[in-house]
Amino acid sequence: MPASQDPTALREAAQLRDEIGQRLDALFAPEDDALKAANAATQAHGMPEIQISPLQGKLLQVLAACAGAKRILEIGALGGYSGIWLARALPAGGRLISLELSESHAAVAREAFARAGVADRAEVRVGAATETLPTLAGEAPFDLVFIDADKRGYPAYLDWALKLSRPGTLIIADNAIRSGSALRDDNTDPDLRGLYEYNQRIASDPRLVSVAIPMDDDGLDGFALSAVRE
Ligand code: DHB
Ligand code: MG
Repeated sequence: MPASQDPTALREAAQLRDEIGQRLDALFAPEDDALKAANAATQAHGMPEIQISPLQGKLLQVLAACAGAKRILEIGALGGYSGIWLARALPAGGRLISLELSESHAAVAREAFARAGVADRAEVRVGAATETLPTLAGEAPFDLVFIDADKRGYPAYLDWALKLSRPGTLIIADNAIRSGSALRDDNTDPDLRGLYEYNQRIASDPRLVSVAIPMDDDGLDGFALSAVRE
């Protein structure tokens, strides 16, 4: 039997991956009380528990530091978990605008921002992103845009991210892999079709240099990262 199919070897490899994940979380991305409370509130309000992982949060901070991000736009606040990571990457005077469709989710996110001590620099704006994005021209360009909302909307959000960007802006999208479905052209589900189109466009748009990295859900999902070229 090849080692790749040996059940004992597979179990040991899975255990090792778990242990590595725990050590990486503990070393690079420990959650403080405010981050833990954001997740607890998301659960308590019966909202979907689909927030990014701690390592993804820390990666957002590294990328925000690379981009010298002072203005960050998030599309999809959910319970504010990723927004806390992003807001904490801002320098003094920096701003995070987080767009959220649901008034009730926005309320949970605002409370999370207040608990995390970032309410002075992070705000949630309620509405369909297709309605709120066109109102942001006066606050652009954004240095980093993080897209983590309804998946069928991703192609439109990419258009807006490009309009609201400058050379060097980072455009990051969560859920760019989706167990491989986001890379397949035979989807009927509109959300998966949206993710597929997003990936196709960022891979070929001459204004962008892009990559997607399997780094969440045991390598089955992850961020797509695009930099707007000079
Ligand atoms: C879903 C959405 C997300 O943004 C995510 O990270 C995971 C799952 C979902 O809609 O199922
Ligand atoms: Mg997501």
